[in-house]
Amino acid sequence: DIEFDLDPRFLNTKYECLRPTPLKPKYNQSLVELLEVIEHSRELNGEERNALSYRHAIAALKAYPHNIKSYAEARKIIGVGPKIGNHIKEFLTTDTIPEAEEILASEKYQTLDIFSRVYGVGYKTALKWYRKGYKSIRECMRDPYLTHIQRLGLELFNDFQKKMSRQDIQELLGILDTIIKSIYSDCIITPVGGYRRGKEFNGDLDVVVSHPQEEIANNLLKDIVEKLMDTGHLKHKLFYARNKKDTSSELLSSHRNVMDKLDKCFCAFIQPSTQICRQVDLIIAPYSQYSTAVLGWTGSKQFERSLRNYAKKERNMTLTSHGLFLNVIPKRQVHVTSEREIFNILGIPWVEPEMRNC
Ligand code: CTP
Ligand code: MN
Ligand code: MN
Repeated sequence: DIEFDLDPRFLNTKYECLRPTPLKPKYNQSLVELLEVIEHSRELNGEERNALSYRHAIAALKAYPHNIKSYAEARKIIGVGPKIGNHIKEFLTTDTIPEAEEILASEKYQTLDIFSRVYGVGYKTALKWYRKGYKSIRECMRDPYLTHIQRLGLELFNDFQKKMSRQDIQELLGILDTIIKSIYSDCIITPVGGYRRGKEFNGDLDVVVSHPQEEIANNLLKDIVEKLMDTGHLKHKLFYARNKKDTSSELLSSHRNVMDKLDKCFCAFIQPSTQICRQVDLIIAPYSQYSTAVLGWTGSKQFERSLRNYAKKERNMTLTSHGLFLNVIPKRQVHVTSEREIFNILGIPWVEPEMRNC
């Protein structure tokens, strides 16, 4: 019987970071796709808690090593409660989930789904536009109250919808490498995000850049962005933030889900070979924060969330893109220099980036 195959420590856990999750699970694929529809619809309705419980169940199914065969089996998985269990039961008898089918067929869902894909648009703005009766991106563009960034997002929508192959990304990485190293040859450039997790097609490119000299790293964002503007690669700055380098206190504040305080620029970047505008997220990390920044920006979002929760609840530590801290008074930083060291200190078995796809 299958449940005896499961190592409860590493498979059946509420912490996604304790188990490997491949990019393309072999089992339960169509079930996962249908549950993802419900999860996304909850997200679009602003029901974040409900969406989160779907994400936990979906992640568990993605890592599950067999096709689920019964309701009872499903309910043994941590994260599958009666609600989601019933959807699985429906799926086992009808090969679909009625609620997911209804959602997919609804005009509201289809419209909100498109609007929420616009850069800078969350569920609230999407809902606002929907309530104004807009049905298409074109109609949103005529809204008289657009912010600068919303207008830009709408204008870039077509380009940003086009996924990048790994070859497209390698082209961009080549350009970044040449340009950044022409400023300081000792820069360290690490692709993160979905690309590092092995995704075949990516919506954007995320890159962490660092330099061994603190003073150089402090001013790196400005230098790189200026150079990218001069060379004509950077068309728009979608988001730009440089943060005060006041060290200690700032690093320790760690609100969940609030963006970290690393210098960053989200760029609309022209890809030379196609002339398509691509989103490139540049993140600058001081050398001492490099490994936690790379870990924090590799994702997936669910993997990161579970890592931080595990650190906090099971280890009394705080993990952010800025570092690993002991939650004693006063807080104490644990110096780390690699991802592996972070996993070791947290007591989590090493998970390859390609297996962080929960
Ligand atoms: N991230 C973060 N803070 C943000 C945005 C992103 O910490 N404000 C982290 C998340 O852990 C995320 C990773 O950086 O997983 C990359 O972000 P993003 O590009 O949004 O997601 P990807 O996983 O790369 O997926 P996609 O292919 O959609 O880009
Ligand atoms: Mn990304
Ligand atoms: Mn990104």
